[in-house]
Amino acid sequence: MAKQFDYDVVIVGLGPAGSSLAYQLRKSGLRIAGVDLVDINGIWGKPCGDAIGEHHFHETGMPLPSGEALANNVEGIDLYSPSEEVRLRVKGKGFMINRNAYGRMLVSEAEKAGVDIYLETYVRNPVLEDGKLVGVKAVRGDEEILFKAKVIVDATGTSGVLRRRLPKEWPVNEPLKPVDMNIAYRRIVKLEEEIEDPNYIRIYVNQEIAPGGYWWLFPKSSSVANIGLGVQGGRGYPHPKKIYDEILMKRRDVGSQVEVYADAGAAVPTRRPANTLVWDNFVGIGDNGYTVNPVHGGGMGYAMNAAYHASKAIIEAFQANDFTRYGPLWKLNLGYMRGIGAKQASLDIFRIYLQELSNEEIEWGLKNGIMKAEDAYDTSVTGELKANFSVLDKVKTLFKLLGRPSMLQELVTVSRYMKKAKELYLNYPETPGRLEDWIERVEALYREYKGKLGITW
Ligand code: FDA
Repeated sequence: MAKQFDYDVVIVGLGPAGSSLAYQLRKSGLRIAGVDLVDINGIWGKPCGDAIGEHHFHETGMPLPSGEALANNVEGIDLYSPSEEVRLRVKGKGFMINRNAYGRMLVSEAEKAGVDIYLETYVRNPVLEDGKLVGVKAVRGDEEILFKAKVIVDATGTSGVLRRRLPKEWPVNEPLKPVDMNIAYRRIVKLEEEIEDPNYIRIYVNQEIAPGGYWWLFPKSSSVANIGLGVQGGRGYPHPKKIYDEILMKRRDVGSQVEVYADAGAAVPTRRPANTLVWDNFVGIGDNGYTVNPVHGGGMGYAMNAAYHASKAIIEAFQANDFTRYGPLWKLNLGYMRGIGAKQASLDIFRIYLQELSNEEIEWGLKNGIMKAEDAYDTSVTGELKANFSVLDKVKTLFKLLGRPSMLQELVTVSRYMKKAKELYLNYPETPGRLEDWIERVEALYREYKGKLGITW
């Protein structure tokens, strides 16, 4: 016989999404369980680049990383062209964090405020009674546990343990195509030589090294760095670990590793947000809701943002005693999709184009000032392509010389579709009754866009 625990809210997964939600809800007076399969030293254990922008903390009221959780202050990003001859310095404050220390702090604050934390507890599946989601089944050691709750939260990351086991006709059960994810791998290492400018994290765009992604060197101090790469899934590219060992390790700046502290890889979704983060008695946030920035793959801050909107929607659902999609839970969708989601959908359009460019085209674009440092920043903040269109007009002949006269037209198309995608998400349906129609319009837009660029994946 399984043990049964009754709660108001059960949060499955205590990574950036789940533990932020537990933290946000800790003083709500609700009876909350936070469940994760790892032990306390495995909290926030997913491999990551560990970089996060400061604005996320201000936007969500989450505590700034400090003490053991803060590894390094970041002043900006240096973006390198494939030849590394062009460097764009994009200023913007952020942090390199020690994920486990930050996550442990959140879990401990939530626990102190009364959230029940169940670690080393593996959630197997959602439990439905008469077609209604009522709980989850879990195992802890030899013990079977049934957690029952009015709101069940999937915060299990890319695997979406609950989402993917919900009925197929529920729109939250939306598959993730391999081409819409990056397979990433990183090592945290001590380097032999001092790192120059350790307060600037470095991104290297190079389709031959990291096809459909990029490789990075993010300093955690003047001698320790998080170095890794991501490649687009589903295209038959080599595994990033193989590329790391065979190509990156040959570079002086990467290869002079005197100690390896951590070494792992994982998949990260890089697409527009899931069609819905909410269904009856269900909330799904973080990587399983595809809340990652499609261009740079940063997901911690957006997981925190989704958790912030989720906490407000959940509190209102309890005030209204309505846990269906027709009640206040839907406000999570409205808050997230019309804010961050609109920007991410637009950046997804850009991502699809970027993944098709050759090194030569990227080099040329960066060399000729088609995208400047401030434009790169603006594009990532607003989700609108801030390319230098006046330059584009002047360099028509150069496009011809490059053998890509169509590139100019493509950029105009990309910019137009970025705006259209953003518009659709800004008009995210007010009620679930209009979701189906909205999904059809989004899918049609993406089909049309890919058709125009001749993309078949
Ligand atoms: P996450 O996967 O972090 O957490 C899910 C939790 O659920 C885990 O604790 C897991 O144990 C638990 N769980 C899963 N299944 C379970 C089950 N059956 N039962 C119980 N618990 C279960 N982002 C960023 O902001 N900056 C960066 O620099 C990078 N760099 C980066 C590099 C690499 C290599 C990768 C793979 C990813 C990144 N990211 C990133 C993305 C970032 O790591 C990611 O978006 C967040 O960790 C997502 O947080 P979640 O809480 O959604 O999932």
